[in-house]
Amino acid sequence: MTRVNLSGLQSFCTLNNGRNIPLLGLGVYLIEAGKATEDAVLWALQIFVTTKLYDQDHGYDSALAACELSLQKLGLDYVDLYLIHSPNPGAERRAESWNALQKLVTLGKAKSIGKAYFYSITPMNLLNFKVHPWLARREIISFCESQNIAIEAYSPLSRGHKLQDPVVNKIAAKYSKSAAQVLIRWSLQKGHIVLPKSAKKERIEQNSEVFDFELADGDMEVLDSLDEGYVSGWDPTTAP
Ligand code: A2P
Repeated sequence: MTRVNLSGLQSFCTLNNGRNIPLLGLGVYLIEAGKATEDAVLWALQIFVTTKLYDQDHGYDSALAACELSLQKLGLDYVDLYLIHSPNPGAERRAESWNALQKLVTLGKAKSIGKAYFYSITPMNLLNFKVHPWLARREIISFCESQNIAIEAYSPLSRGHKLQDPVVNKIAAKYSKSAAQVLIRWSLQKGHIVLPKSAKKERIEQNSEVFDFELADGDMEVLDSLDEGYVSGWDPTTAP
């Protein structure tokens, strides 16, 4: 199990390479490029920079070049975390890309590396996937825990689809919190690194106010019982 320290906004988890990653991040998926993204990132409270290798850049040389280009655009010498975005390019090119990511670590251009899918048991620092109470992914989570691979939850708010759920809202009312805050707190108490996406300042702030309450075991169990394999959007398990 990765080591998790849940003690406020500075909460972090220690990856299996000894590096720390903040437990709470900001997702920027589908926020318009340019000022909107820039503002959202500036509103966020910590900068631990993660970027990804996209589908068209798979392959050994092209992955190295893609990372270099990202570093140039970001104005950085290295990123804290470099992830393979999706399994779509197929097993062979994924393997080449993974070799390139390992090379990036030895070059000091990526401090930690991981994947955003779960097709192989390659040792890695972190696995990024969609997980929330309606999509509990128990099997892959217990696999990660057994291999000391940190879990990074994206779409922890179910892309907003389940924020009206009466069960969550009942729990939220009990703690005087919002449904979104309850879902973020559920992820944190599971020990996941959590990336709620918002383009709105007040929501980014609200989503950070999750360290002043603790969900009781009974409420965690009620949330756990909501699992229905609900996939919002793309499901990486359907890729080749
Ligand atoms: P917006 O960007 O307009 O704030 P996920 O992180 O699961 O992908 O969910 C993101 C969705 O949830 C977006 O539609 C986002 O909208 C919305 N969202 C994020 N934070 C909150 C919040 N605190 N309350 C309500 N909706 C939220």
